[in-house]
Amino acid sequence: MTADTSPSESSDRLRAKLVATLRERGSIRSPAVAAAFTNVPREKFAPEVTLSAAYSAYDVIVTKRDAGGEAISSVSAPWLQAEMLEAARLERGARALEIGSGGCNAALISEIVGPDGLVVTVDIDPYVTERAARFLAETGYPHVKVVLGDAEHAAEPYGPYDAILVTAGAWDCPWGHLLAPGGRMVVPLRFASITRSLTFMRDGDRLIGQNPTVCGFVPIQGAGAHAEQEAVLAGGAVKLTIDGGPALDTAALDRALAGARTELWTTVTVGNGEPFDTLHLWLATVTNTFGWIWPNPDHDRDLISPAIRWFCPALITPDSFAYLTIRDAHSNDEAKERRHRFGAHGHGRHGADLVQQLAEHVATWDRDRRNGPGPDFTLDPADAAVPAPAVGRIFTKRHTQLVMSWPA
Ligand SMILES: C[S@@+](CC[C@H](N)C(=O)[O-])C[C@H]1O[C@@H](n2cnc3c(N)ncnc32)[C@H](O)[C@@H]1O
Repeated sequence: MTADTSPSESSDRLRAKLVATLRERGSIRSPAVAAAFTNVPREKFAPEVTLSAAYSAYDVIVTKRDAGGEAISSVSAPWLQAEMLEAARLERGARALEIGSGGCNAALISEIVGPDGLVVTVDIDPYVTERAARFLAETGYPHVKVVLGDAEHAAEPYGPYDAILVTAGAWDCPWGHLLAPGGRMVVPLRFASITRSLTFMRDGDRLIGQNPTVCGFVPIQGAGAHAEQEAVLAGGAVKLTIDGGPALDTAALDRALAGARTELWTTVTVGNGEPFDTLHLWLATVTNTFGWIWPNPDHDRDLISPAIRWFCPALITPDSFAYLTIRDAHSNDEAKERRHRFGAHGHGRHGADLVQQLAEHVATWDRDRRNGPGPDFTLDPADAAVPAPAVGRIFTKRHTQLVMSWPA
């Protein structure tokens, strides 16, 4: 019997399974997106991985790294592709722009917009465009227009578009003018070292953002690239990153980490696996010292105990820092869900102040924001006069101002 074991049969089965998983978690909501995932053979866009890896719902497939080993191109994880396709509300016959290529997502878009639609996919890297064009031709999508260039300008001649899907982490958003009336633009936007995929619709000169989704993407390169500050401590065991602010003094921060630690515990608790991503947005609203601390998993030195294992919220000044930590919150009721108590660890000259501030911000978030609606997002041109939100923050970029405002 070969019917069950031939590669294409397996691919069909894996596709059906993937669609079922993405429907179940709510990432696929429409028949059009389900049909696209049913029809596109993902493995043909990632020949470097196994068939089952190509159909993992949650995993990104890295297809290129830079000289330092950082991922610079990938096939995005299916759950996120599905979320972004649903958010774009693509219709048959639509004109769509994808920024950041690979081929797989362009094929999904092409399935949805159909033969009367237009799909333009732009990538800055000739290695990526060559592969994407080849894979798209081989899989039956030769009509997708693959453009080599920096998306900051390269997509201009083909607009306007009913949908723009940005698939690289963008610090700024220079594509609003390419959006047709009624169109939607889905962008993983980076601000204060946080990335949220936002779905923007035009309202005059302003773009209104909805549906902030936690996500991660390889960073945009070229004219739109934006460097954050970084301090590598303890011989690479720990890294601090922050967007903007006064210059970090790496030697002082290194001494701070090696020195005494201040500890403060809050009464705020969190359940196992319970998300608390609005805390990050709140911290980025109330302090411009918000950044991240990253323990290096390849170093087994137990120098810090962050609340999140890979990267964790921190308040960072040139010579001191404090980060969020957790410990078990003991409960008398054994049957109760296991919970953890938030605390803060501080290092350096201002470590004690910073733990105090962090603990207060966590308490305010818990009391006033945790269970309420998150912030609204709007994008205005960089030169527009934008009133400061009552509770919020304006992030000024090169082309735009991103306004994050919480209900007053
Ligand atoms: C996550 S990958 C794209 C994934 C792809 N859409 C897929 O099918 O899943 C991000 C891509 O953005 C590209 N990129 C980064 N900066 C760019 C820029 N300024 N203009 C165009 N492409 C860019 C990178 O070369 C990389 O291939």
